Amino acid sequence: MKGKRILLGISGGIAAYKIAFLIRLLKKQGAEVKCIMTPASSDFITPLTVATLTENPVYIDFWNKQNGQWTNHVDLGMWPDVFLIAPLTANTLSKLANGFCDNLLTATYLSAKCPVVVSPAMDLDMYAHKSTEINLDKLASFGVKVLPAEFGELASGLVGKGRMIEPEKIVEFLQCFFEKQHQFSSKQVLITAGPTYEYIDPVRFIGNFSSGKMGYEIAKEFLDRGAKVVLISGPTNEILIHPNLKILNVTTALDMLEKVQANWNDSDIGVFSAAVADYRPEVKEQVKIKKNEDSLSIKLIKNPDILFWAGKNKKTNQYLVGFALETNDALEYGRKKLKSKNLDAIIINSLQDKGAGFATNTNKISILDKEENLSEYTLKPKSEVALDVVNFVAEEYSKFLF
Ligand code: C5P
Repeated sequence: MKGKRILLGISGGIAAYKIAFLIRLLKKQGAEVKCIMTPASSDFITPLTVATLTENPVYIDFWNKQNGQWTNHVDLGMWPDVFLIAPLTANTLSKLANGFCDNLLTATYLSAKCPVVVSPAMDLDMYAHKSTEINLDKLASFGVKVLPAEFGELASGLVGKGRMIEPEKIVEFLQCFFEKQHQFSSKQVLITAGPTYEYIDPVRFIGNFSSGKMGYEIAKEFLDRGAKVVLISGPTNEILIHPNLKILNVTTALDMLEKVQANWNDSDIGVFSAAVADYRPEVKEQVKIKKNEDSLSIKLIKNPDILFWAGKNKKTNQYLVGFALETNDALEYGRKKLKSKNLDAIIINSLQDKGAGFATNTNKISILDKEENLSEYTLKPKSEVALDVVNFVAEEYSKFLF
């Protein structure tokens, strides 16, 4: 972390006292640290302590009350390599999630262009509150890296989830973050995500339960590592915003195919996680079908296999990963798909594993490569599964290029 510029935002929770240790650890690693404190945080740790440890003035107000000098929050936001907010209180979190800028910390967040990492800390009921969950998800959708709070003893005397992760872990995260930050820079990654909807008539469709979450998490992970991502997304509730991200929203498999065909040639890596409908109605009725008859037959015809097209048109320097979601004989089907679709690896998940697959926040995967090596992973949140997937691709892709 030598020479890395870290802007540390401190908000007003009891965990603020640990920030003195965090600053010492960061300085020991050779980082330069500047701090912005919310007014409330100075009740927990003094600006003098923070200034002494960082060897820099501390920023609290928009302007200095003695001499009228103005602190330029825009300049402050441009200075760092990373803006770390720790501890992040429920109050500051809700401000960040909603664009409030009523103090220097929140105003700087709104104008900062660098990566932002937050380490929440609050009492267990506050952390478990739906509004906190929604606000954290919202920050994550803006590309903010959230370091989830831990289970443990809380200042209230209660025990539960809400404890800020220890300073050592924050430093470890930052080391890892800086190490991987440029892993995929100058590479374009094409990702398909979500379901496709196949029109029956103007108001009805055939679809599936895919949430798109897995593909969006993989997109986030590649973006964190410097890649340019083209995300071709079927209809989902997921939101993701990032300067290096181009999202192309599609509805049907045919739309998705068209966008993949337009973008695959310029991509270095493809990860196809979309749950594409295998069939579509042969005819899309132009007006809403009336319920006159006792039964209704809709003739379905086969959709194109988009991944098959990408595998067929794969150049030697392109690396392609597919997904196989199976209800039975997952490994065997995965192996067949890897070959028939000309893939470099396939991510297999079996719906027989509890908590895996569609519309859950967790997944359990195995990855099969071309040499038939199988890497198996445990059940974990989809954000962590994305980490495993991208770590796997990073390792294989570096071997593959040389
Ligand atoms: O053959 P199957 O549909 O099980 O293969 C799944 C993989 O193929 C996934 O990676 C999925 O995104 C992709 N796929 C596709 N186009 C289709 C069907 C599946 O790209 N029409």
